[in-house]
Amino acid sequence: MGTIHLQTAIPGPKSKALAARRASAVPRGLSHGTPIYVAQAEDAWLEDVDGNRYLDFAGGIGCLNVGHRRKPVLAAVSNQLDRFLHTCVQVTPYEAYVQLAERMNRATPGKFPKKTLFVNSGAEAVENAIKIARAHTGRPGIIAFEDAFHGRTLMTLSLTSKTHPYKAGFAPFPGDVYRIPYAYCYRCSYSLTYPSCDLFCARHLEDTFKRVVASEDVAAVIAEPVLGEGGFVVPPRDFFRTLIEICQKHGVLFIADEVQSGFGRTGRLFASEYYGIEPDLIVTAKSLGGGLPLAAVTGRAEIMDAPGPGGLGGTFAGNPVSCAAALAVLDIFESENLLERSQAIGDRFQERAHVWQKRWPIVGEVRGLGGMQAIELVQSSDKREPAAEETRQVTQYCYEHGLITITAGSYSNVVRVLVPLVITDEQMDEALDVLESAVQMVYEKRGAVAQTV
Ligand SMILES: Cc1ncc(COP(=O)(O)O)c(C=O)c1O
Repeated sequence: MGTIHLQTAIPGPKSKALAARRASAVPRGLSHGTPIYVAQAEDAWLEDVDGNRYLDFAGGIGCLNVGHRRKPVLAAVSNQLDRFLHTCVQVTPYEAYVQLAERMNRATPGKFPKKTLFVNSGAEAVENAIKIARAHTGRPGIIAFEDAFHGRTLMTLSLTSKTHPYKAGFAPFPGDVYRIPYAYCYRCSYSLTYPSCDLFCARHLEDTFKRVVASEDVAAVIAEPVLGEGGFVVPPRDFFRTLIEICQKHGVLFIADEVQSGFGRTGRLFASEYYGIEPDLIVTAKSLGGGLPLAAVTGRAEIMDAPGPGGLGGTFAGNPVSCAAALAVLDIFESENLLERSQAIGDRFQERAHVWQKRWPIVGEVRGLGGMQAIELVQSSDKREPAAEETRQVTQYCYEHGLITITAGSYSNVVRVLVPLVITDEQMDEALDVLESAVQMVYEKRGAVAQTV
């Protein structure tokens, strides 16, 4: 018997009743991907209030790489609950914060001396990385990418690319942010092809310094090593090295936003390792806390020390319960083969998804790194018009058949996989069966005839 178990139509009556209460109590701006209200979760599955059990390909948007309610995380949290919940690290500090900083300094790429700051959310960590970069360089400008996502606070919205639903109506945004194209080869902004393009998009940074903003006015370039919300785009391996070489030539810092690509998602602890790069600052969050809110900025010690005493912090920043959970997360990565597992999950996904791509041309591209995988859906494989409505139908079919998935992409036409890395092979196959039926259903609904593989 599989893990998925549905005993009501989805959503069930209790979820529907909660949805009605929610509609009058919660603003519509906080939307949700599925209409299912959760009662409990474990490892790679979750159960709703009507007793339906699902496999979870979303993992709370990439926050549960080590799995839901992992025992070492629960034990660490419970131990901390017995001691104290909050003191504010800026008033009376505690060891877990310092210990976690030491471990993050060792775990992140780069053998140079590092320091780590903890805050509450990915957006808050990005904000702090920008503050630190500006304090260190004395320069205001930040260069971000098309299709980037860095958060929903006003500074991070300025860095985030997608207009609807994130940015529209919320202007004005903080200034001195400049945007250049990412290495999204499937939709190259310059209509070039890798490798004959010779990484034109990375080299174009030099041109940006001449035509858009002077390098001496730029503090940092910020990039996601693999685009998250932007659609799980993986740049060519030498993209970031080329970009960083140009940054170094001009005294511009490089910030890697590993909020979504970090903590084993890509088969490395940090995706930066795949490219062989050592960012000046690395931003982490999501799976760092094993399900609790926690985020970090880790970077070269001399850069991290640029802001003076009192320049950084926050009331709940680096709270002791989250720090205890994060220490357990790092232990899990040291004691279990989750990085290998991430790679195996990615391989299993790619093997199946490449068959779908051949059979159903609605699957335009299959891409990803390790367990960070996605399919981009298009109207036709030659013109590549984004198939956003079909993508919505795929995710709806999935949750109605017991698989929680979420979408991504500037055109909302990407289905992404952020499954907890503790999923078993049997569960993975069960989930992929559902996703396969969903893609087939949507393809055939369009009246097309499947090509024979
Ligand atoms: C790459 C990246 N940066 C920053 C953020 C913002 O993180 P948070 O939602 O914790 O503020 C996200 C969230 O999805 C993200 O994917």
